[in-house]
Amino acid sequence: MDKPKVVLGVSGGIAAYKACELLRRLTESGHDVRVVPTASALHFVGAATWSALSGNPVSTEVWDDVHEVPHVRIGQHADLVVVAPATADTLAKAAHGLADDLLTNTLLTARCPVVFAPAMHTEMWEHPATQENVATLRRRGAIVIEPAVGRLTGVDTGKGRLPDPTEIFEVCRHVLARGVTEPDLKGRHVVVSAGGTREPLDPVRFLGNRSSGKQGYALARTAAARGARVTLIAANTGMPDPAGVDVVQVGTAVQLREAVLKAAPDADVVVMAAAVADFRPATYAAGKIKKQDGQEPEPITLVRNPDILAEISADRARPGQIVVGFAAETDDVLANGRKKLERKGCDFLVVNEVGERKTFGSEENEAVVLGADGSETPVPYGPKEALAETVWDLVARRLDAHV
Ligand code: CTP
Repeated sequence: MDKPKVVLGVSGGIAAYKACELLRRLTESGHDVRVVPTASALHFVGAATWSALSGNPVSTEVWDDVHEVPHVRIGQHADLVVVAPATADTLAKAAHGLADDLLTNTLLTARCPVVFAPAMHTEMWEHPATQENVATLRRRGAIVIEPAVGRLTGVDTGKGRLPDPTEIFEVCRHVLARGVTEPDLKGRHVVVSAGGTREPLDPVRFLGNRSSGKQGYALARTAAARGARVTLIAANTGMPDPAGVDVVQVGTAVQLREAVLKAAPDADVVVMAAAVADFRPATYAAGKIKKQDGQEPEPITLVRNPDILAEISADRARPGQIVVGFAAETDDVLANGRKKLERKGCDFLVVNEVGERKTFGSEENEAVVLGADGSETPVPYGPKEALAETVWDLVARRLDAHV
């Protein structure tokens, strides 16, 4: 089988050096990559580097190898075009259909999915001209990954950093696997909670659970790759931020509730993948609890935490908002799942059977997605991303039905 053909467009920003890592990941995972830098990108990383890492010729102008009509062929034959970093200038040219070099010509001739990973100073990113160009590109079906927040060139910090190349690679992988040029969650805002809450007993101890957050991160990543704006509320996961996702870090169930309620009014979908502690210690000791010689420990009194899933399901922040819950069961999985779905009042409940290898910390999962309409969608044992895609398939269908 032919290797999937990827065009890596690189425009002229200091983050161009990070595209080398993206290129390496793409080639090592079996893609045939043609790098198309702009002339200004070559000020940052030279053609020799791109050529050596990709194993393919590199040109910036339409005048090289004219007999092969590269300005048309490269775009026509691509399975994916990813532009990383995408500068404000490149976004503007792409939005307006300008074609004054090989990359912009390629963008006009490509009929495959296109991913832009912008990187620039915060002011340039926030400028209405750039925002309008991004909106235009998204409306046409391109995936424009939100820049990350952090250190920029020089002494500045803010939004505008190129996301981690590994995370851009993940977006590319998903987009390539789906191969669709019309992302079905575009224009949607989804909120995903992930990880496990920790309920502090004293400054050094907490009651927690074994949720890794991997399923929630897979949901956030796949939603971003399907064009959604994603808010990820992460409880104690310690994982790198997925590309293009707004991440809100929380610790306890009460903090998680606050973050969900804050994000929900603007959300088309809320997915509660986090393992939320049902109880928390009734009191918090400001100083470390010490053992006393010859004395039994004090019992820990617990109080109920709010049930966030039930609360947001009962009181929808928007008409037509879709709420998805998760449940881990050990016995009578489907019957218990059905009861829980009704009790919580959500639209879908993803029910996992908890067992060895499954669920906690593993890369794989197996589940049944129960729908409030009585539907039952089994998802065979496989990567957590496959389960995430099934959840979004069901959600996207439901969202479209509401329009
Ligand atoms: N959840 C929540 N708020 C809580 C507890 C759970 O929003 N205080 C959400 C979780 O994010 C998940 C679902 O509810 O989507 C899990 O349901 P839960 O009641 O926690 O299941 P169990 O604790 O397993 O319930 P039970 O002990 O009744 O089986």
